[in-house]
Amino acid sequence: MIIQEINKSNYAVRRMDGAKGMLLLPDKSIKLIYGSPPYPNAEREYGVWRSSEYIRKMSPFLDSACLKLRDDGFIVINVKANREKSTSKCSSKRSLVIEKLAIEMEETWGLHCVDIEIWVKENPVPTGLRVACQDAYEQNLWFSKSSKWTINIDAIRRPYESHSVQTYETYEYKPRSNGNTYVRKNKRIAPNPLGALPKNIISGGVSARIDDHPATQPLYLPQKYIKATTAENDLVVDPWMGSGTTGYAALSLGRRFAGFDVVEEYVEHAASLLRSIAGGHDNGKEKET
Ligand SMILES: C[S@@+](CC[C@H](N)C(=O)[O-])C[C@H]1O[C@@H](n2cnc3c(N)ncnc32)[C@H](O)[C@@H]1O
Repeated sequence: MIIQEINKSNYAVRRMDGAKGMLLLPDKSIKLIYGSPPYPNAEREYGVWRSSEYIRKMSPFLDSACLKLRDDGFIVINVKANREKSTSKCSSKRSLVIEKLAIEMEETWGLHCVDIEIWVKENPVPTGLRVACQDAYEQNLWFSKSSKWTINIDAIRRPYESHSVQTYETYEYKPRSNGNTYVRKNKRIAPNPLGALPKNIISGGVSARIDDHPATQPLYLPQKYIKATTAENDLVVDPWMGSGTTGYAALSLGRRFAGFDVVEEYVEHAASLLRSIAGGHDNGKEKET
């Protein structure tokens, strides 16, 4: 039984369809589902999920997610809208299926949008595209199962920028005439010692291909959402586990993990990665290259 394995070793991985894999877990047991499904129109060895069939392919995953997420649980889907193929009559247009997926997640599955965050890739892969600008971002569709949610904002604060520190030192905040009572009387405000409030943009490099997987994620992506939405020992699940990045982030932060993927080689890779850190967490250190 998978849950017994998780209770014993803190994690379990399986080579199987992720939507079916989640059904092996107890109802309402998952605090966070974080993962990156096959991107629309991306041609990979594990197949192509075309825009036209994307919502249908995602449906069983969202069905399982709604059943297995705790009432205070979250799902974050990292994905990128690849372009449609050009033809003699049409330029290669940008697919809107990710926007459609976000709307369906709310309207069909009753999930609630926390935000659609943007991952800005500082070193994007050149596309040579001449009909639009270079593709340099991905979307993180962040949804809550409950309409009222709580996140741990302090866990994901960031360092203040120097100009904001200067403002705090010199600026006196005043009550606004529009009745917005951020302050009731003129006063200085000290910066929060834990850092500034986080932005809904994540900037950073694309992961070097250190693992034998075509789409290995940088660790800082799952780390952000694991820190924001889970506590120690909570169960994190990645239904499209790939090389095991989400699992690595989860275990290194003291969370439990279950991961599924259909490609044997990836599952073996993830299993050995997770074996290497299970049993003691390292607070999210980068993977060794
Ligand atoms: C974009 S990659 C995820 C990469 C992963 N985040 C990492 O850091 O390595 C998508 C993954 O989904 C897997 N996949 C495709 N169809 C699947 C299915 N039905 N169930 C589970 N995984 C699937 C692929 O094998 C691939 O590893």
